[in-house]
Amino acid sequence: PRPILLTRHGESQDNVRGRIGGDTALSEAGELYSKKLANFVRKRLKSERAASIWTSTLQRTILTASPIAGFPKIQWRALDEINAGVCDGMTYEEIKKNMPEEYESRKKDKLRYRYPRGESYLDVIQRLEPVIIELERQRAPVVVISHQAVLRALYAYFADRPLHEIPHIEVPLHTIIEIQMGVTGVQEKRYKLMD
Ligand code: G3H
Repeated sequence: PRPILLTRHGESQDNVRGRIGGDTALSEAGELYSKKLANFVRKRLKSERAASIWTSTLQRTILTASPIAGFPKIQWRALDEINAGVCDGMTYEEIKKNMPEEYESRKKDKLRYRYPRGESYLDVIQRLEPVIIELERQRAPVVVISHQAVLRALYAYFADRPLHEIPHIEVPLHTIIEIQMGVTGVQEKRYKLMD
């Protein structure tokens, strides 16, 4: 069975400031993670010549992939973070203060709530369909470097978690979730490479 490795990008400058969305580069901790990830991938996929690295089109995932050598890298727009529309670049505090109705409606139904001029979790789940089809077709391992909301949806698909749980699944930074699809079902391992 071939593994699928799921990971968020290394910590970004916006993560440090608590801002959602954006397209910032990595923090120092994020850069350290990119190196540790490259090391891990080199050892884990040593003899896997056909493996590939999939990222979003956002800097923070591309930079996280950059120290990984020896495998083709593919950028998918469908792996980009949930589009927070008019809230892009804001902190949750700012949303709560400046757009309290938006904040409340999201809290009430995080799965269906769509950011004005942005996306909902349901939108994200829908746009991931081609990625999932392609992942299912792959014979070789794939490393997916993406974002929290997107990985919640991808993980839920493979781990067979119900729709309503998706927006609340924990996908911590600096941790690799390894999914193995075998005849007996799906197995999961987690590797926390740093705090
Ligand atoms: O920037 C977006 C976050 O990664 C998604 O988090 O859906 O819990 O607000 P959230």
